[in-house]
Amino acid sequence: MKTSVVIVGGGPSGLLLSQLLHTKGIESIVLERKTKEYVLGRIRAGVLETGLVKLMEEAGCAERLHAEGFVHDGTQIAFGEEFFRVDFTALTGTPVVVYGQTEVTRDLYEARERAGGVIDYDVENVVIHDVDTSNPFVTYSVDGEERRIDCDFVAGCDGFHGVSRKTIPADVRKEYEKAYPFGWLGVLSETPPVHEELIYANSERGFALCSMRNEQLSRYYIQCSLSDDPDDWSDEDFWKELKLRIPSHYAEQLVTGPAIEKSIAPLRSFVTEPMRWGRLFLCGDAAHIVPPTGAKGLNTAASDVHYLYNGLKEFYLDGSESGIDAYSENALRRVWKAERFSWWFSSLMHRYPDQTPFDLRIQTAELAFLGSNEAAQKAMAENYVGLPY
Ligand code: APR
Ligand code: PHB
Repeated sequence: MKTSVVIVGGGPSGLLLSQLLHTKGIESIVLERKTKEYVLGRIRAGVLETGLVKLMEEAGCAERLHAEGFVHDGTQIAFGEEFFRVDFTALTGTPVVVYGQTEVTRDLYEARERAGGVIDYDVENVVIHDVDTSNPFVTYSVDGEERRIDCDFVAGCDGFHGVSRKTIPADVRKEYEKAYPFGWLGVLSETPPVHEELIYANSERGFALCSMRNEQLSRYYIQCSLSDDPDDWSDEDFWKELKLRIPSHYAEQLVTGPAIEKSIAPLRSFVTEPMRWGRLFLCGDAAHIVPPTGAKGLNTAASDVHYLYNGLKEFYLDGSESGIDAYSENALRRVWKAERFSWWFSSLMHRYPDQTPFDLRIQTAELAFLGSNEAAQKAMAENYVGLPY
């Protein structure tokens, strides 16, 4: 087989890139190691920056997002019993849209299928070859059948545990990592959200987040020990702890119910450089990971796709290599700003095991400054709604 771009990974990055390329008549084939149902079964954050909304519009996939997504003009920041609102729209002119990542992925799958896009599921043994030449190819197997696709470019959209990043020689790759000394215990419940906007809370017992998927589906998180197991937490214990971590004004209104999903995720900051090696380009989680505090995972994958899509468009439509040559530098410039914001917001909102009394006073002072200073809130809001591409 031959195509223009082989895309390894059928998550949000790979699907969005494939659909955008399609709108310009650029062929691609997506290789996904899981089934579509498995991919759609992942529970992930769903706060969309305007940049991602615009990319979905350009991809012709934004109809349901606009019909079912929730426009959020701000968020609540709580510490102890105190809380204040950061008004994104008043401060930046831009809101965010709350719309589950699963729904983004579903919309992209449906668009690819409507367009007759080629997606191979359940692939195994993906190997990326000769990306340091102008004739790369990818081999893999499906149902025991060995296959090969010759192409012009390979997009590594296969997430943190994929094969793409490791295709770049170890002596070329520079990796930067920070592991956080806690995890997030997340619960999905078929209950109305406790508040119409998200609530990020820093309490003496640790971080908590109140989020949602729709009017009858809520998503809650509490900071937990890395040694915790979801089975250690009964629904009752979870709700009791969450109520202790958010202001009583909200705790009194919290509607609890059975957890339909309960899981623990570790927090990590990670970046690999460069994001390009010859004809191979890394996008999304294949190249970088952020702690979920700032909801930057999906949105930073989207900005990678923006830069790569436009670079490939210039290559195929204008015969220019300037976009693909600048891809890694352009993508990384924004990746590191998202990494910084995600690290800063995580440092502000969590309790760290090694925090000294001085550290706690500084954290409290920073929260008080954010709560009382418009310039500080504007800086936070500009990062949260998404810095320019
Ligand atoms: N071959 C083919 N597919 C693979 C391989 C492989 N060797 N390894 C992984 N994959 C697939 C995974 O099954 C997954 O569906 O690649 C896809 C990668 O998707 P994500 O991990 O969702 O990464 P990405 O598309 O970059 O989206 C980033 O998703 O994980 C969240 O927090 C992250 O919100 C961010 C967004
Ligand atoms: C979520 O709804 O899952 C969510 C929202 C915002 C975050 C993280 C997760 O910062």
